[in-house]
Amino acid sequence: MNAMNSEIPNPSKTAAPAKLPPHDFYGSYLIPALIFLCAGLAIVVLGWLYAGGEYSFTEGRPSRYTYRAVSPMRYTDTIATDKLRNRVEESLAGVVVRDAAAEDRMKSRLSEFRTAWSTNKNTAGFPEVLLNAFLALQEQRGEVLFLAAERVGEVYFKAMAEDLHTPPQDAELWAEIGKLDLPASEANLLYQLMKELATPVYSTDPKLTTLMRQVVRTSIPPVERQLEIGDAIVAQGETITPTIARLLRFQGYPESVFPLGRLAVAALLMLTLPLWLEILLHADSNRPPRISVVFLITMGWVCQTLASYVGAAGAGTLAPVLIAYLSMRRRFAFNICLVGAASSVFLISGLSVYNTLSILSAGLACSMMGYYLLRRIDSISTLAYKTLFLAVILMLVKVSNRAFQGFPVTWQSLTLGWPLGETWTVGGRVLLFDLLTAYLAASLLPMIEGRLGVLSVLKARQLSHPSSPLLRKLQMEAPGTYHHCLMIGTLAEVVSTELGIDENLMKVGAYYHDIGKLRRPQYFVENQMGGKNIHDDLPPTLSAVTIIAHVREGVELAGEFGLPKKVKQFITEHHGTTSVGYFYKKAKAMGENVDLSQFTYPGPKPQSRETALLMLLDSLEAAMRAESRNITSVKDIQEVIERVIAIKIADRQFDDVDFTFREMERVKAALLRAFRSMYHTRVVKEIKQEAKQEAKQKT
Ligand SMILES: [Fe+2]
Ligand SMILES: [Fe+2]
Repeated sequence: MNAMNSEIPNPSKTAAPAKLPPHDFYGSYLIPALIFLCAGLAIVVLGWLYAGGEYSFTEGRPSRYTYRAVSPMRYTDTIATDKLRNRVEESLAGVVVRDAAAEDRMKSRLSEFRTAWSTNKNTAGFPEVLLNAFLALQEQRGEVLFLAAERVGEVYFKAMAEDLHTPPQDAELWAEIGKLDLPASEANLLYQLMKELATPVYSTDPKLTTLMRQVVRTSIPPVERQLEIGDAIVAQGETITPTIARLLRFQGYPESVFPLGRLAVAALLMLTLPLWLEILLHADSNRPPRISVVFLITMGWVCQTLASYVGAAGAGTLAPVLIAYLSMRRRFAFNICLVGAASSVFLISGLSVYNTLSILSAGLACSMMGYYLLRRIDSISTLAYKTLFLAVILMLVKVSNRAFQGFPVTWQSLTLGWPLGETWTVGGRVLLFDLLTAYLAASLLPMIEGRLGVLSVLKARQLSHPSSPLLRKLQMEAPGTYHHCLMIGTLAEVVSTELGIDENLMKVGAYYHDIGKLRRPQYFVENQMGGKNIHDDLPPTLSAVTIIAHVREGVELAGEFGLPKKVKQFITEHHGTTSVGYFYKKAKAMGENVDLSQFTYPGPKPQSRETALLMLLDSLEAAMRAESRNITSVKDIQEVIERVIAIKIADRQFDDVDFTFREMERVKAALLRAFRSMYHTRVVKEIKQEAKQEAKQKT
């Protein structure tokens, strides 16, 4: 009777080649791209709208707030530089040059005066009073005065040559005249003459002045300024100049100009995002459903946008990262988290240096830490403390980020006000936001994971618990099947751990694969407890129909109890398109004219490694049970494994699963180890001997 459930190769199906699914343009590209596009553009526009009402600025308009620096920076103040240069330029009166012809001119004027004196003709326009005073002198005294004038003139020009900036003053001229020992009236006359003859020795050169001003202007270095946190960049009401606008942009303040350029680049990015995801997740039967990937990435954007609205920029990554690692294979989760972090840098940060660093470092830290920390979640408490640990790390990332940007970070600053306390306040907000959203997401996950087509670790744990309704029902109404499922579950866990396959999913799949037997438990040998076999009195075709129906009925029950889609796949695929050979042979032996298709499961064939592995374990367990009396050595177990696998391959049951030869060898080795431990207590000589030897070695 153990062979009742055995399956034989189905010749009618061996010829069918494996069909590759057609490339799904809408599902794999268009729909994700459209969702990304709408969400991404909405985030940019909402960010602009929200920020537009709060801290935005417009270049050339008066400032609505006193904007303060949020990070230290050094910059060149072009306005102050211009002011300084103008002031210095204006202070330059002009370049004064010496008139080389001034001395000759004076000598010539003296000569003209002498001629006027000797001829008594004032043709050169000298003051009549002066000329008359000289004419009143005796001729000899006049000559003496003219000689004296020549000498004083020479001294005058000599002094001028020695000191350009201080031409001889009246007092000095007097002193020089005093040295000549002249009578006071003649000395006075000489002084009057010298004053009349003196011509300007210096003049301003306009060309040289312009040149000099240019040289001086360029020689003044630009004014460098250092902005510290909290320094005012522009006061309320002041006009926002291009320089101030540049500073505000750098400090991360949004511009109230509609971000048309950013929208265009965002659109381009969103349209290429599904392609990046296709490359990163590539064709793998275990890849998460696209809807879940799209959901996670957009959820990350929304969380981070919300975080930046409540003053916790950089937070919001933990919730999507947590969901990714709880519901997907780590490799996929990591790739999705990285794509999410990179895309949110563009959408959320607005590419300001300050926000980019904050969002990127949080995204990277969370993705990487999650990869190692969220590996084995055994219970809700493990999840809770690991989430708390991650949130604290993210807070420290934020604090160190601000420290890196020059914000003061001291323990004393915790008790101080802004800006000193700001770093810890922001850190605290990040911690709170991440913790709340992560816990909320984890608690809502069981409600949405079915729609996303994923199975989270939490749900898997919940489903594989003996107290879950269907398992309890199975235990009560079909104890034989329940124990069969438990055994397959244990084997599945061992094998999948060795092969790096999701052991939680495998275990749940194994536990529920035969729940269809609940409809008619007594029709299955494991529930007959050695009593009368119901099939002995049934026509083989009817027996086959009831046996085969357990797949369809299992799917119905799964629907009634709300089992996830991933678990339903184990129910539908665990027999693939194999046939119930025992009843087919029985019908033939009874001379019935039957077709093999009447004894064949509807399928489909296993579509994933997990369901393929379950099919193998299920068939192997049946085969081992059937041949338990003949299995006396490890070699016997190995032969059964080889034979069952060969039958499945010949029956093309694994055509839709991309097992390589190397992987198949690993599967065989893992199966051998699992069944060896199962048979450890049975009468298998070799195993018993090995166990004895091991015990001896230990003692
Ligand atoms: Fe089954
Ligand atoms: Fe089974």
